Amino acid sequence: MTVNPTALITGASRGLGRALAAGLAREGFDLIIDARDAAALDAAAGALRAAGGGAPADPGAHRPGGAVTALAGDVTDPAHRAALLAAAQAAGRLDLLVNNAGTLGASPLPALADYPPDELRAAFEVNVIAPIVLTQLLLPVLRASGGAVLNITSDAAVEAYAGWGGYGAAKAALEQASNVLAAEEPALRVWWADPGDLRTDMHQLAFPGEDISDRPEPAAVVPAFVRLVTERLPSGRYRASHLMPVAP
Ligand SMILES: NC(=O)c1ccc[n+]([C@@H]2O[C@H](COP(=O)([O-])OP(=O)(O)OC[C@H]3O[C@@H](n4cnc5c(N)ncnc54)[C@H](OP(=O)(O)O)[C@@H]3O)[C@@H](O)[C@H]2O)c1
Repeated sequence: MTVNPTALITGASRGLGRALAAGLAREGFDLIIDARDAAALDAAAGALRAAGGGAPADPGAHRPGGAVTALAGDVTDPAHRAALLAAAQAAGRLDLLVNNAGTLGASPLPALADYPPDELRAAFEVNVIAPIVLTQLLLPVLRASGGAVLNITSDAAVEAYAGWGGYGAAKAALEQASNVLAAEEPALRVWWADPGDLRTDMHQLAFPGEDISDRPEPAAVVPAFVRLVTERLPSGRYRASHLMPVAP
């Protein structure tokens, strides 16, 4: 059985998920990661393994993590979710589930009046149903480890941005599901968190043709999420910008 804590991060081949995976490995976590594109996922897993986890912030806390199990698949696929559960069981423990994989939905972003129902349904499948059902599946292993669930949401869950109705409604549903789960699972930690605008493929899709180089790289917000996890802050809604560690 592994002695390192284990984190399962969905959508870790690029963007925020990949940055979080690297940050958690540096903190001593072994990783289980997924994404649909197997080649991109393998490349990310190779880079994470090569980095070897690095030195944790608190050297006494863990030995460096970095064991990486990469499983290509779609979070909406029950067979893939079962494979993720099997990987967590094989690891012997699951300390953290990060439901990060997400979709913007239709792009360019349509007004709700024009939102194609099939695309709306697909956005809810990826952004709401899949993370809830994956959490259901993993709850027994999370409970056994006294673990935590981190659901990546968005300011679009609480702000009324024109064009963001499909994505925003799905993220709002994920936020309330997280809120209820936190009440139902007091022995766990359940966090739902807005990372802020980040320079990623999804963000570019939301602003097609626009220069998004003024948005921060995903690595910039990793210290905020590491703080959430390592300090085991109370369950609740967080914004990465409010969690950034302050320099001494
Ligand atoms: N970027 C921002 O400004 C921003 C702001 C607020 C919230 N967020 C949230 O942050 C999270 C990460 O977004 P990001 O900007 O890093 O996006 P991204 O760069 O597009 O990366 C998304 C990751 O998820 C994977 N993925 C997508 N759909 C999947 C599925 N059905 N099954 C498994 N993996 C899937 C992608 O790989 P494959 O395509 O190969 O599957 C990729 O690894 C999302 O939940 C997003 O809503 C982002």
